[in-house]
Amino acid sequence: LANGLASTPPMGWNSWNHFNCMIDEKIIKETADALVSTGLASMGYKYVNIDDCWAEISRDEKGALVPKNSTFPSGIKALADYVHTKGLKLGIYSDAGFYTCSKKMPGSLGHEEQDAKTFALWGIDYLKYDNCNNGGLRPTLRYPVMTRALMKAGRPIFFSLCEWGDMHPALWGYTVGNSWRTANDISDTWDSMVSRADQNEVYADFARPGGWNDPDMLEVGNGGMTKDEYIAHFSIWAISKAPLLIGCDVRNITKDTMEIIANKEVIAVNQDKLGVQAKKVRMEGDWEVWAGPLSHYRVAVLLLNRGSWPTSITAHWDDIGIPSDTSVIARDLWEHKSLETRFVGNLTATVDSHACKMYVLKPIS
Ligand code: DGJ
Repeated sequence: LANGLASTPPMGWNSWNHFNCMIDEKIIKETADALVSTGLASMGYKYVNIDDCWAEISRDEKGALVPKNSTFPSGIKALADYVHTKGLKLGIYSDAGFYTCSKKMPGSLGHEEQDAKTFALWGIDYLKYDNCNNGGLRPTLRYPVMTRALMKAGRPIFFSLCEWGDMHPALWGYTVGNSWRTANDISDTWDSMVSRADQNEVYADFARPGGWNDPDMLEVGNGGMTKDEYIAHFSIWAISKAPLLIGCDVRNITKDTMEIIANKEVIAVNQDKLGVQAKKVRMEGDWEVWAGPLSHYRVAVLLLNRGSWPTSITAHWDDIGIPSDTSVIARDLWEHKSLETRFVGNLTATVDSHACKMYVLKPIS
């Protein structure tokens, strides 16, 4: 969407994966504090996004959305002011239907202009727009109405389309929003995670600065996968130019989780200014090679082992767009070291079960 936002994929946090509906203003404020104190904010995690369940079930007498008094007594404007003083941005949630998915608050269908104005007035920076209870109206009749309303509201607001991929939003999302979901909700398991990655990969050609494919938010730190699995999760999301929206409780974050989501080299791949989503370039049995170009003629490569045993995986220059006689320096992004060998034609590594290796390859001229 040409609203001047999302030149690289958005980074931040969202309440849903960890808290579901159990949210309040204290959690949001403490999360903002934690993003700053952990250093995550300075690495780019700027959006603090409130998901479903923040509003009263009834609009006020003028038809405006009302923050739930029992959980957000100070109101959203005060929360936005607080978050902004920390140098962060506040995101909110609504639905392109009559009710949100939780059915615990109203949707914005038919109230688009009023709600967009309310959000702008409150100082909102990001809107996630869900797809439940939509009366059977097709998404291309509902989502662009909010796009226009936001454009008129007088504040740049990142617009995240949460149509779950049913009507292929990747095909029409670029003129409507800054990101669009390509799959149904993720859950905190390896199978759920890789299947979201697969569904998202199909649409790689549609991602570009201004609009990104969204395989859903991160589960890293929520406890359902091993550390290697979470490393693979984060690596795939990064190389796929997916939004990096942390989905765990950052107020109680572990060292292992920090090691993953605060890997600056992997974040740099995600935020590279070229903005090209990686693709699977080779799949054999249980293993895959994913690759995509980066700025300055570099290439990001992911070797992924989906099987149950360690396996040797080879990336061939022919598959990843490097001339086969070119010598390359390989930087291992999880070991944080450049390998001593100069590679020509291919690079092979042994990869553990449900794990990955991630490299940036730099041709030597
Ligand atoms: C469905 C979305 O896909 C989720 O990410 C979350 O926003 C829930 N709805 C909230 O009800």
